[in-house]
Amino acid sequence: MKQFELDGEKSGFLFATPDTQAMQMDDFDNPAFLWVQQGEQMWTKVEGQAGKSCASCHGPASSMRGVGATYPKVSKETGKLFALEHQINYCRTERMKASELPWEKPEMLSISTFVMYQSRGLPINVSIDGPAKKFYD
Ligand code: HEC
Repeated sequence: MKQFELDGEKSGFLFATPDTQAMQMDDFDNPAFLWVQQGEQMWTKVEGQAGKSCASCHGPASSMRGVGATYPKVSKETGKLFALEHQINYCRTERMKASELPWEKPEMLSISTFVMYQSRGLPINVSIDGPAKKFYD
């Protein structure tokens, strides 16, 4: 399965059982797609006092292609090491004037899975040097 290897590195997919691999390969069987579908609705849902949705600023979700694969990364605005969930909450509180979403709850799982889905098939592209180095040291 060549598409799951890059420069000698192997995707975790290759270590899953054949049953789990089959489920992940079939979008109708894969339970993650429930989150993807709900996240798609959240992308265009106006929330907060600024009267905006994610799409108001970012346009089509395809603008997120490759973005999820770069997390965690240092946020330019705050200098903190951000997981994707931190960045989503930052956009919600600072830019939408909406409430923070609790992690591991349906809304955050939906929107974060939907953003990650835009990077489907791309290799993880996390930087551990530059501004991120001190966090990893
Ligand atoms: C009022 C405008 C606005 C809204 C609404 C908004 N964002 Fe953002 N978002 C920005 C800006 C500005 C940035 C920083 C510049 C950039 O990276 O595009 C950003 C950055 C991001 C990033 C990081 C991009 C990167 O390259 O690392 C993600 C992910 C993101 N937003 C997701 C969302 C999601 C999901 C929502 C809806 C819950 C949302 N944003 C709502 C303006 C907005």
